[in-house]
This record gives sequence, structure tokens and C-alpha cells, in this order.
Amino acid sequence: MVDLRSDTVTAPTPGMRAAMAAAEVGDDVYGEDPTVAALEAEVAALFGHEAALFAPTGSMANQIALQLLVPPAQELLCDADAHVVTYEVGAAAGYGGISTRTWPASGGAPDPDQIAAMIRPDGFWAVPTRAVAVEQTHNLAGGQVIAVETLRRLRGVVDEAGVAMHCDGARIWHAHLADGVPLAEYGGLFDMLSVCMSKGLGAPVGSLVIGSAERIERARWLRKRMGGGMRQVGVLAAAASYALRHQLTRLVDDHARAARLAAELAPFGVVAAPPRTNLVPLDLRRSGWDAPSLAAAARERGVLISVLGPRIGRLVTHLHIDDDAVDRAVAVLVALLRSRPAA
Ligand SMILES: Cc1ncc(COP(=O)(O)O)c(C=O)c1O
Repeated sequence: MVDLRSDTVTAPTPGMRAAMAAAEVGDDVYGEDPTVAALEAEVAALFGHEAALFAPTGSMANQIALQLLVPPAQELLCDADAHVVTYEVGAAAGYGGISTRTWPASGGAPDPDQIAAMIRPDGFWAVPTRAVAVEQTHNLAGGQVIAVETLRRLRGVVDEAGVAMHCDGARIWHAHLADGVPLAEYGGLFDMLSVCMSKGLGAPVGSLVIGSAERIERARWLRKRMGGGMRQVGVLAAAASYALRHQLTRLVDDHARAARLAAELAPFGVVAAPPRTNLVPLDLRRSGWDAPSLAAAARERGVLISVLGPRIGRLVTHLHIDDDAVDRAVAVLVALLRSRPAA
């Protein structure tokens, strides 16, 4: 099978498995796992922040950050297609009592002026805005990269309003390589970030929430309250460290392969936006196919694709997609798009 559904489907590589087997571990709830502590220090330093905390998932890392930045019954602003309000099953409201308000889906290009106009100050019996969240890269926008200049303008907006800024950086690694922006430069633009080790980087589990030492101390408490306190988890932190060392810079290959997939499918009018990173968003409205039928037909021929809506699909390149896999996927998808779905 050529599995193009997501970059979360990767399995640990042999080198990563060896690093996991050799990891020194301890009880991390007691603060005694040296491999976890080393990973947390390394990632905090990469982004130029004081501290970081290893969390089991990107969703938990995001939700811990949001609870730290927005008190109950106060407001977070984000994109209508943001992961934090689309795919985290209402956690901001459920865990944090956080009120969310969204700006129209921006395709990964948020408008700082529009966001400035949305920020509500204290008083007037209105829900006050406490934080703005952006997603880098933007998943539902097809892995688009928010320009660093836009982020700088947005930082100016939140500073002027006295509110905080969070980055859902599940795929910030891809933005760093696509735009050549140092991770520390991204780090300096946000009060808190979450970054994921188990997507493009290829570790089996884990995200980190990043911020000031004071906030991360409180994050440790929130993680435990949410059931995310983990014990001898150095085996997973070792996989994440290995990924940073050996599987970060290769993401440019995933970007090139996504570009090739898009170029081969573009003549059929199904590529929603030219990919900048490893996601190829598909809009099938002009193809005669609906997404579930195309996915089912492709599966029968050995290719797995994501279905995100009745006519919306997605292809994702990752660690296990080499040039041969791209060739096989192109052959199958081109043949299907040339034909018509079975009645
Ligand atoms: C942009 C973004 N943020 C957060 C997450 C959540 O990660 P997890 O599945 O580890 O909870 C995802 C998962 O796909 C994502 O794409």
C-alpha cells in the first residue's frame, strides 16, 4: 500500500528503534526521566524559550497552552479552520471553559488588520479577548506557510492590545525549511508554542508545549490533571530526539514529492492550492468524483488517500513515501481521474 493519508502513519525507523532501546529512563511524574528532561531542554533552546514540556499528543499540548493563556469564560481568537477548534473535540470549552471566536478561514494567510478589529478589550459586559492562535503550517489550508512578515505584524497587533499569541506548530518544522526561517525566530514571535514530533518528523508519539519557566511549571500540573502524566517515557523522548537529529532536514524531500504529486494531478483541476510543504489538498468538484468513491477506488488499487469532506481529499508525503511510491500513486490516481466513477 502507498499510504498518503497522513504523516502520522509512519513507523519508527531502525535507527530510531535502537535509540529507543538504549534510552535511560526514570519516572517522569517524579521528574526523574533524564531523556525526557534532555529533550525538553533541547526543544526549548531550539525555539529560544526557557522551558518545554513533553506531552502525549499535539491536541493536549495545544489545550494546555490555551488554558495557560485564556482564563475560563474569556476568549481565544483563531482561524475558522484551525485544528484547535475543528479537530480537538471541543476541548477548549470542555477543559478550559474557553470561549472561542473565529475569523473566516484564511487559507493560511491571516489578516492582521482583520484580527486587530476583532480583539475585544475588557469592559462593556463583553467577553474579553485574551489570546490569538495561529497554525504553522496550516493543516486544512493544505500545509500553507504563514509568512514571517505576517506573523511579525500580528505580533505588533497582539502587543498593542495586550493579549497573548499561541502557535499550533504541529508542522512548524516544515515552515522552517520551506521559508528558511530559524526556529528561534518563530519562537520569539509567540508566548507559547506546541510542536509535534509524531507527524513529519516520524517519532511514534509526542509533542512539546513551549514557553516561560513559570508557565511550563503550571503546564506540568495541567498535564497531570488531563491524565497526561507519563512514567518511563524516555523511550519515547529518545525517539523524538533521534527524529530531530536525523529526520528533520529530510522534510525538504517530502516537499519536493508533494510538489511532484500536485504537478501530475494539476491538469485534472483537482489540486486546491499549489503545495508549499508536504500536504496536497484536493478539491474534486470539477472531477466527476466524490472523495469517498475516489478513496475507495484508489484503495482497491493499493493507494490510500484522506477524505476530509464529500468532495475534499488530501495527499500527504512522509518518511515512507519515496520516489517509487509517488510514481505508483500518480499512475493509479491519473488513471482514475481520466476515467469516470462506476455508476
Ligand atoms: C495542525 C495540527 N495541530 C494539532 C494536531 C493534533 O495532534 P495529535 O493528533 O497528536 O493530537 C494535528 C493533528 O493532525 C494537526 O494537524
